[in-house]
Amino acid sequence: MCGIVGYIGNGNVYDVLIKGLHRLEYRGYDSAGVAMVSPEGKLKIYKARGKVENLEQYCKDKDLSGCVGIAHTRWATHGEPSDLNAHPHYSDDGRLALVHNGTIENYKVLKDALTQHGCKFHSETDTEVLVQLIEYIKVKNDCSLVDAVREALKQVVGAYAIAVLEKDNPDQIIAARKSSPLVIGIGEDEMFLASDATPFVEYTNEAVYLKDEEVAIIRRGEPLKIVSLENEESAIDVKTLEMGISQLEKGGYPHFMLKEIFEQPSTLLDCIRGRVVEGGRRIMLNGVQDNKEKFLGEKRIVIVACGTSWHAALLGKYLIQDMCRLPVEVEYASEFRYSNPVLDPSDLVIAISQSGETADTLAAIQIARGMGAFVYGISNVVGSSIPRATDSGTYIHVGPEIGVASTKAFTGQVMVLTMLAVSIAQLRGTMTSEQIAQIGSCILRIPRLVEDVLKLAPAIERLSLIYTYARNFLYLGRGYSYPVALEGALKLKEISYIHAEGYPAAEMKHGPIALIDAEMPSVIIAPDDHLYEKIVNNVQQVKARGGSIIAIVTEGDTVIRNIADHVLEVPRVPECLTPIITSIPLQLLSYYIAINKGKNVDMPRNLAKSVTVE
Ligand code: AGP
Ligand code: GLU
Repeated sequence: MCGIVGYIGNGNVYDVLIKGLHRLEYRGYDSAGVAMVSPEGKLKIYKARGKVENLEQYCKDKDLSGCVGIAHTRWATHGEPSDLNAHPHYSDDGRLALVHNGTIENYKVLKDALTQHGCKFHSETDTEVLVQLIEYIKVKNDCSLVDAVREALKQVVGAYAIAVLEKDNPDQIIAARKSSPLVIGIGEDEMFLASDATPFVEYTNEAVYLKDEEVAIIRRGEPLKIVSLENEESAIDVKTLEMGISQLEKGGYPHFMLKEIFEQPSTLLDCIRGRVVEGGRRIMLNGVQDNKEKFLGEKRIVIVACGTSWHAALLGKYLIQDMCRLPVEVEYASEFRYSNPVLDPSDLVIAISQSGETADTLAAIQIARGMGAFVYGISNVVGSSIPRATDSGTYIHVGPEIGVASTKAFTGQVMVLTMLAVSIAQLRGTMTSEQIAQIGSCILRIPRLVEDVLKLAPAIERLSLIYTYARNFLYLGRGYSYPVALEGALKLKEISYIHAEGYPAAEMKHGPIALIDAEMPSVIIAPDDHLYEKIVNNVQQVKARGGSIIAIVTEGDTVIRNIADHVLEVPRVPECLTPIITSIPLQLLSYYIAINKGKNVDMPRNLAKSVTVE
């Protein structure tokens, strides 16, 4: 999820590595480190929590000689951000150094086995297990580093992009990837390795993109060699890069927001990885497994959050009420904290925050804990203030979200809330195993279905041209689609500056329908769920008053298609999973309208990515 840089050549290794880490800073991170091997075989590792400049400060008086090196910016998933947990990690015998992007799902099993064999661990990370496993295999089989890496990776379940240095072999870097990106830059008598091409594109535009389960052998003075985990040699496919650094940072997309919208198939895969098991028959959230008693018995649940996270919280209410038959209250954290709330030690409070730093949400947590409630956090940033202030929780694991308008974090939050509701239902026995299996198996299909939804982008881009100069919008939905309407309206207003209001569709007749005319477009979220007949009536009411309608419908819809002005069809999923599917066209609609209006979608006026003040 974060950044790797490697270099072998005659240049100043440390300078190339540090400059490369700065190039990767846009990806967000919590700590950084470098490892270098000098010609006489001295392995040096320097690492520090915080910004890359902290690492530079730390390295000021160190021996920075080296003829090969690797470097890392960390986005923690296992183990708080700290000097100790920062990468590179080294093997017990001190002969190997490794950096890693991704998550080793089965690290606990591997760690227990290695501990049995006498391995000593120094950090809390999943990554350290990998370097210890490689050393263990290398010694046990008396084999080469690349062979040990191939064997170790066969035992790994999860996502990885890794680079490994060997003290006794200063003329090589071994690298490998699965689900996390890694690209090799081919220079004149030098080679680079990085998570994307930004760290080396100023030195060379010849790049080789490693494919899943490929291992790269990068050796001084020799051509690049790539093999599979089974040691079959792969062809070397060199691409000539056309993009500049700014475009590369955004993965070729014009804006971070669009990149993050299109990342959602893979971020949702990262979010569910290792948590939906047995083909969907079981959901495994460690935060629930480790605190079962907190989810049993008489229970009142209060969810606190702000902004988009509050919309996810509202969906959490619908999900938990539906599946667990428990009462749920949803509070804006900013209101909760000053409302003189009444909480009981038996209450369960859920706090949702992408950044993990929102001041109002943090304050609400402190009040809740002061009253003895058990507080469960749902965040994206490991080790941020909110996860550290809660009793337990679940990370959404969608990687750094750079765009101020939340997109992949929202769908990640909703996915975690869906898994949380199923987990609690599993514990409380309020859902049958068939019901759980049906939802679980569909959750596994969501990343693929989101790819289908994203194919609507060109149609939505064309549609946006019609509505770019609207001055007001209404977003309408019922049941699970009501919080989606609220979220769609927020997306539009925060990046296009067009006034937009989300409303429960049935509430229109109690006043807001007076607003409807040809100048007031309505976006109506109308999947084929248990309220479909009702929402059809609402669509007809709006149409009868001359309103123009963009409807998000389930594919194959034949009724609303004949009423609305425009329909966007999304795949059919169980009702509780519709929010993840129907919110994505709304992200795209707001993005394209804002672009048509020439707005700065990544950094909208007056807004911050993390509101750490009241
Ligand atoms: C959403 O697009 C906004 N950026 C904003 O509403 C955000 O959701 C809110 O500030 C809460 O942030 P958090 O999730 O980091 O706590
Ligand atoms: N899972 C590893 C850790 O938490 C790597 C995280 C990353 O991708 O930066 O250290």
